[in-house]
Amino acid sequence: MAKAILEFEKVSKIYSPQVKALQDVFLKVNQGEFFCLIGPSGCGKTTLLKTVNRLIQPTTGKILVKGKEIEKWNPIELRRNIGYVIQQIGLFPHLTVEENIAYVLRTLGQKKEQRKQRAKTLIQLVGMDISYLKRLPKELSGGQQQRVGVARALAADPEIILMDEPFGALDQITREQLQDELFSLQKKLKKTIFFVTHDLREAVKLADRIGVMKQGVVHQVGSPNELLFSPKDQFVEEFLGSSGFFNVLQLLSVKEGMIAFDSLPKLTIANQNQPLELTPEVIKQAQNFTWNSVPVVNQNRFFQPKFNPILANSPWLGDSN
Ligand SMILES: Nc1ncnc2c1ncn2[C@@H]1O[C@H](COP(=O)(O)OP(=O)(O)OP(=O)(O)O)[C@@H](O)[C@H]1O
Ligand SMILES: [Mg+2]
Repeated sequence: MAKAILEFEKVSKIYSPQVKALQDVFLKVNQGEFFCLIGPSGCGKTTLLKTVNRLIQPTTGKILVKGKEIEKWNPIELRRNIGYVIQQIGLFPHLTVEENIAYVLRTLGQKKEQRKQRAKTLIQLVGMDISYLKRLPKELSGGQQQRVGVARALAADPEIILMDEPFGALDQITREQLQDELFSLQKKLKKTIFFVTHDLREAVKLADRIGVMKQGVVHQVGSPNELLFSPKDQFVEEFLGSSGFFNVLQLLSVKEGMIAFDSLPKLTIANQNQPLELTPEVIKQAQNFTWNSVPVVNQNRFFQPKFNPILANSPWLGDSN
C-alpha cells in the first residue's frame, strides 16, 4: 500500500463568490511519486500547489505533509522539506548561480563553506559545469536557468518538490531534454514531485499518476493509461483529446498500456516497415471500435502511424472516425 506524503482534505480557496479557485479538493500524493496536475488555464493548479508551501492560505480544509497538518509544522522545517520551482524561471537576477542555488541553505543558517560545496554538487547533478556558479542568471540560456532552478529546489534535500510549469518557457527540444533529465533524476533521488503542467504529452511522459483539474476541483486521478483509456466523462476526454491522443500514445509502455487496453486489437510487429497482419480476430475487435485505425505496438512502445494504409483500406475501418 502506497504511503501518502501529501494530502488535501476538502481544501477550498474562495477569492470571491465568483472566483472559487479551489472547491473541496481531495487528493493524496504518495511518497516517491511523480504526480502531475493538469488542466485548463485558470482551473486552480498554481493555487493548489501554493497551498502546500503556505504561499496561499486555503479558505477551508486541511493539508497534511507526512501526516501532519502544515500549520503544525515548524515553518523552517517545512521549508526545508519542500522544494519549489516556480512558473517562469524566477531566479534572483542579482545573485550568482551559486547564491541562487544556496539561497534556501542561507536562510536555514548553513555555513558558507558547506553551501559552496552543496552548490558544486548540485550544479553537476543538473548537468552543468561548476564554472557556471559564478555567473549571473542573465548570462545563462533559458534551459540552463531552468536547470539552476531545479538545482535550487533540491538544495536542502527536500522530500517533496513542487514544480509549476517549470519547462513552459523553453523551446521544444530543450524542454524534452530537461523532461528526460528530470525523469531520471527523480528515479535516482526518489523524491516526491508534484508537477503542474498543461501539456498532456509532458504529463504522460513524466507522471506515475495524473490529476485532471476542472474549475477548482480535482476531477479525475489516474495513471496516464487510465486517463487515456478510461476518461471519466466528456470533459476529460475532450481535454485529453484536444492535446492529441495519438501524439501521446507512443509514450506509453506496452506493458502498462496493455493492462488498460484489454478490449483493443493487439497487433505486434517487429519493426515499422514490416507489413501488419490483420487477423480476423483483430478485425472483429476493431469493428467495435470507433477509431479509423488501431494502435500498433513494437517491442517497447505503442506507436500510431499517421497513416496506416492497411487499416485505411479495410472495408470496416476506412471511413469511420
Ligand atoms: N490573488 C487572487 N485574487 C483573485 N483571484 C485569483 C487570485 N489568484 C488567482 N485567482 C484566480 O483563481 C483562479 C485559479 O488561478 P490559478 O493561478 O490557480 O490557475 P492555473 O490553473 O494555475 O492557471 P494557468 O494554467 O494559467 O497558470 C483563476 O480564476 C484566477 O484568476
Ligand atoms: Mg498556473
